[in-house]
Amino acid sequence: MSLPRLAHRTSTVPVSATAAVRQAARELARSGERVINLGAGEPDHPSPPEVVEAAAAAARDPRLHRYAPSRGLPELCEAVAEYRADCYGHAVSTDGLVVTCGAKQAAFNALLALVDPGDEVLVPGPCWVSYPAMIRLVGGVPVPVPSMVEEAFKIDVGRLEAARTSRTKALVLISPGNPTGVAYTAQELADIGQWALDHGIWVISDEVYGELVYDGRKPVSIATVVPAVADQCAVVHGVSKTFAMTGWRIGWLIGPDCLVSAATAIQSHSSSHPTAVAQFAAATALTRSRDRAEEMRAGYERRRRLVLDRLTDVRGITLAEPQGAFYAFIRAERGGRPIDDQDFAARLLREHRVATVPGTAFGAPSHLRLSYATSDEDVVEGLDRLVRALT
Ligand SMILES: Cc1ncc(COP(=O)(O)O)c(C=O)c1O
Repeated sequence: MSLPRLAHRTSTVPVSATAAVRQAARELARSGERVINLGAGEPDHPSPPEVVEAAAAAARDPRLHRYAPSRGLPELCEAVAEYRADCYGHAVSTDGLVVTCGAKQAAFNALLALVDPGDEVLVPGPCWVSYPAMIRLVGGVPVPVPSMVEEAFKIDVGRLEAARTSRTKALVLISPGNPTGVAYTAQELADIGQWALDHGIWVISDEVYGELVYDGRKPVSIATVVPAVADQCAVVHGVSKTFAMTGWRIGWLIGPDCLVSAATAIQSHSSSHPTAVAQFAAATALTRSRDRAEEMRAGYERRRRLVLDRLTDVRGITLAEPQGAFYAFIRAERGGRPIDDQDFAARLLREHRVATVPGTAFGAPSHLRLSYATSDEDVVEGLDRLVRALT
């Protein structure tokens, strides 16, 4: 007898291409090869030691062995509200947010709460792999709004308007972006925010890299640039990137009451809440590890400079200057022809021992995502090998 079939939705989500690269690089490393990893989507630092110590102590506290409120531990909700006010000037009450299992669950909960089957969600590209997949999982239709390296990988109101239909429900805005590292200015956000207001469109503002900005930029959110947008905005955030805490799985969703209540109800029937000890650790990070976060940010800024110095003006490489996150997204040519990014990335790993992520994973063939969340030495050596492989 054949197996009963899986749900149709499983066919709409490919295995994450970034996970595939991680796996290939891991296998090479396991066989004793030294692989330079420019493929990582996470900080190379350990989590701050005070966070680890607070978590160890919290694990011994029986109060944290029990269910917590679905919305999140009061200590963490308070810490998030304070952090949000300090970094973004965004006044949020502790009821105006829900703590989630990473920023990813914040995004997923928001989509579950906002998107009906057949609703269209505008997704400026190149885009992080999970948004189109999550939109499909909730029955929505991801509508790509592409941008090119020559446009600094940014979309504007004209592009959004051309993609808008009567079914457009929401816009995903990731700034700084993954995979591009590009950050929108306050003015650009103001224009997009006004457009969203004019047309009654929800904005899912993914600010998970919001504090990782360079050249004197400050964190900026569409929800504060155009305050009225806050009533139709889902801010997706967390400690993963800023505090080097990807494994702890703590994020949060900030939004208007109706959205936060709906997302909390949804979560109460799925994960309930993230691990209480991890929530306690995240509260410690937000209140006590800001200086360490700043040190890590300054380190990425230094490495970004290494990337810009090495890749600007290299024949065959077109680069839009990244202003945030820890990625550079390049379009590459070899012998005057656009590379086949998947072949090239596989060869780069096999022959030069450098892991990157092919742009096709983000809807941008002939591109590569380079992560500089690795040591200065590896950034320099990895880029040298990349340039050699292209010439
Ligand atoms: C744009 C973006 N949003 C969200 C996430 C997920 O963050 P978390 O690990 O907190 O779920 C990532 C991770 O790569 C990301 O790049």
